[in-house]
Order: sequence, then C-alpha cells, then structure tokens
Amino acid sequence: MNRSKLAVVSMLAAAAVFALVACSEDTENPLGTTTPVPAEDTSTAANQGDTSDPEPTGPDITNGKQKFKGLGCSGCHNIDSSKLVGPGLAGISAKSDKYIRTSITDPAAELVDGYANLMPSTFANLKESDIDDLVAYLKTLN
Ligand code: HEC
Repeated sequence: MNRSKLAVVSMLAAAAVFALVACSEDTENPLGTTTPVPAEDTSTAANQGDTSDPEPTGPDITNGKQKFKGLGCSGCHNIDSSKLVGPGLAGISAKSDKYIRTSITDPAAELVDGYANLMPSTFANLKESDIDDLVAYLKTLN
C-alpha cells in the first residue's frame, strides 16, 4: 500500500513539474522568443559564412540605390542612357561585376570612350559591402 501510494505521489509530483515547465514555455511563446530564435540563428550562421565570400552574400540593392544618390553618383550619372558629366548607366548590367567594380574603385583604369577622367577615385575608400551593393544596384539597370 505504502509503495503504490508513494508511486502515485511521485507521479503527481512529476506531472506538476511537467505542468510548470509547460506553463513557463507557454508564457514565453507569446513573446515570440521560442520560435524565432532558431530561425535567427540559422540566418546569422549563413550571414557569417557569407561575409568571407562576397558573391553569395545577397547584396542589398536598396542600400546600393540609396548610396548611388547619397554619394553623389546621380550627380554625374543618369540611370537612363542620357549623358550627364559621365555616361548614362542604362545597360551597364551587361558588363561584368568586375568591370563595374573597377569603374567605381579605379575609374581611371578604363576610361569610357569620349569621357575625361572626371570621376573621383575616392570611392575606393568605400566599405566593401557598400561597393557590393552599388554594383548589385547597377546590375539592375538595363
Ligand atoms: C564627378 C562626376 C562623377 C561622379 C560623382 C561619379 N562618376 Fe562615375 N563616371 C564619371 C565619368 C566622367 C565617367 C566616364 C570616364 C571613366 O570611365 O572614368 C564615369 C564612369 C563610370 C562608370 C563606367 C560606365 C561605363 O559605361 O562603362 C561607372 C559604372 C560609374 N562611373 C559609376 C559611378 C558610381 C557608382 C558613382 C558613385 C559611387 C560614380 N560613378 C560617381 C563621372 C562621375
């Protein structure tokens, strides 16, 4: 008798502990902590893997577009084919990423026919990721 009573009591105790754990998990769920954490972990891991390798990072085209305005590129370049100080950049997407990148970081390396070396070379000092984003944005210009 005593043994089975003890067994029942300990089972009840175990059930109570279970219920407590379940309750505390339930209170965490509405805060959204339980579900998003694994998802964030995965994307963080993916991003960390990507930083060492510029290509698969998935550059931020929106940032590239903002930088194009913010850095003054748009003061010299139209995004259609019309000439400003520099050539219109429509169709630049046909060029390689490398060509576009060099055009930004070392403009004098390969001058576009009919244009003088008027583009500042200071863009070489931009953050790598901003250059990536600019290139990705220019790649959207057909
Ligand atoms: C002061 C004016 C000026 C500014 C500012 C400027 N550029 Fe230029 N850019 C030029 C000129 C002029 C050329 C053509 C001569 C040459 O190739 O360097 C050119 C060439 C280019 C080319 C090559 C175009 C082609 O058809 O091959 C790209 C790409 C380019 N610029 C991107 C940019 C980006 C991106 C920015 C901003 C980060 C920028 N430029 C800022 C004047 C400018």
